[in-house]
Amino acid sequence: MPAAYNITDHSYDVVVVGAGGAGLRATLGMTIEGLRTACISKVFPTRSHTVAAQGGISAALGNIGPDDWRWHMYDTVKGSDWLGDQDAIEYMCRNAIPAVIELEHFGVPFSRTEDGRIYQRPFGGHMMEYGDGDPARRACAAADRTGHAIIHTLYQQCVRNNAEFFVEYFALDLIMDDEGACRGVMAWNLEDGSLHRFRAHLVVLATGGYGRTYFSCTSAHTCTGDGNAMVLRAGLPLQDMEFIQFHPTGIYGAGCLITEGARGEGGYLTSSEGVRFMEAYAPHAKDLASRDVVSRAMTIEIREGRGCGPEKDHILLHLEHLSPEVLHQRLPGISETAKIFAGVDVMREPIPVLPTVHYNMGGIPTNHHGEVLRPTADEPDATVPGLMAIGEAASVSVHGANRLGCNSLLDIVVFGRAAAHRAAELVRPGTPQKPMSNGAGEEAMARLDAVRQSRGPRKTAEIRLDMQRVMQTNCAVFRTAEVLREGVSRIDVVANSYGDLGISDRSMIWNTDLVEALELENLLEQAVVTLHSAENRTESRGAHAREDYPERDDRNWMKHTLAWLDGDAGVKLGDRPVHLFTLSNEVQSFPPKARVY
Ligand code: FUM
Repeated sequence: MPAAYNITDHSYDVVVVGAGGAGLRATLGMTIEGLRTACISKVFPTRSHTVAAQGGISAALGNIGPDDWRWHMYDTVKGSDWLGDQDAIEYMCRNAIPAVIELEHFGVPFSRTEDGRIYQRPFGGHMMEYGDGDPARRACAAADRTGHAIIHTLYQQCVRNNAEFFVEYFALDLIMDDEGACRGVMAWNLEDGSLHRFRAHLVVLATGGYGRTYFSCTSAHTCTGDGNAMVLRAGLPLQDMEFIQFHPTGIYGAGCLITEGARGEGGYLTSSEGVRFMEAYAPHAKDLASRDVVSRAMTIEIREGRGCGPEKDHILLHLEHLSPEVLHQRLPGISETAKIFAGVDVMREPIPVLPTVHYNMGGIPTNHHGEVLRPTADEPDATVPGLMAIGEAASVSVHGANRLGCNSLLDIVVFGRAAAHRAAELVRPGTPQKPMSNGAGEEAMARLDAVRQSRGPRKTAEIRLDMQRVMQTNCAVFRTAEVLREGVSRIDVVANSYGDLGISDRSMIWNTDLVEALELENLLEQAVVTLHSAENRTESRGAHAREDYPERDDRNWMKHTLAWLDGDAGVKLGDRPVHLFTLSNEVQSFPPKARVY
């Protein structure tokens, strides 16, 4: 260990890393179960990216029209393009109903119907009657600030239950023992520069996605997938990293999210010819088809010369025909965002929009209890003792190759809750910790020190921009072998250039220069496995649209990609089977079929 560093030791039953919706829901549940739980977060909890979620949380409550959790399950399986694990999807969709009612009882200020029930709006890919009916009103909304409402409520509940927080602590690496179990996590307190070793029977990674590998995304600057990178460095694989979701309506130029709820309330897209083109691409669901379908349609319109504006490079989203009451009550947030970031008054003019990176379907493989997997050929569902992952960091896999809107807020709440239940089964409160070697955590310290002392010619911002340009160009909505192959070689070069990094601030207190450099290392590792995984999958499925392999190929590719980062050997790829079975006999599994909307 570098001599200058002193370590403060802590011991908890459970340590949760991340304080977004998933981390807070898990922390709350574990604390209520009597487990001594520490939640560590690099930002103040209510600044986590969940606060930015807009349109709603899906649950088949049937408050405004008929609904059934089995229809929700079917839509999610279809949305995933049959890459989602159906046992986990069943678990999520049936538990959506009690999980949302529980949120209501916690105090989430949902919008209301005339008769006082939770307000629900239509959302992309959510239909009635196993896809054959009209759009289902399944998105439970708090105007267009649903994530904001949920995260503030969960944080208040945590405070009420005396949950312990370590705020503005940057998690560095997992502590793994010789048997391959996770024993804790190392972290750096940004405020006073001290270093901390957290020992725990369980570490729960709730660190979110890695949208910031891209130049244009709806993700906060903090979305650097720190937990995913810690898993890679621990010698464990990530799953299905090639599946990147582009949200159809990012504001042109700025990338800020305009909720799909805008189309749920009656908004629609047009080309430069004034045509509502989604009718041609998705005759039944139209503007409410699933996100991958709408993003591809928009990209085709632009490519074929029907884009809007002087550069013919975007699409228009119309809300002008909606009543001022709907805009004011249901969409106040995006009305303001459109004014600030596009200079548009939504009551009078359309919003210029473009598909923008929004979500990572891939991540840390887990089962539906949140336990992290270490798949082998004989045991594809073997678990890693002591390690869990939830939320966007995890690949459960409920989203498969494409996530439906509103299933993300649902995922974080349902699996945050599931992780708490599982932790209560696995850990007896106050059980003594096994001894840990004195050197535990040394590697993390050495890595931190190497970056802190780096004196190379390249700045973090330069390398980050190189990475973001490669991802934006070579891992976009449409992909070909040639573009992906070029992307693989370009990203490998960019990743190697991290060896030339030099930072200028060597202090330990609020050193954002060092934080950004560490975040960049995390992003680069994920960008590398993403591009290698994308080049490898020679079919089109969900968000992975190969122009050279336009069809879904269930015979060869109905399987999850696994990607390990193996030091000098680079990326190693493997796979594990998709779960095509259900958890109960209250629903039959859905066999694959053509995916049309
Ligand atoms: O469009 C939206 O409001 C985003 C929702 C989601 O990603 O689930």
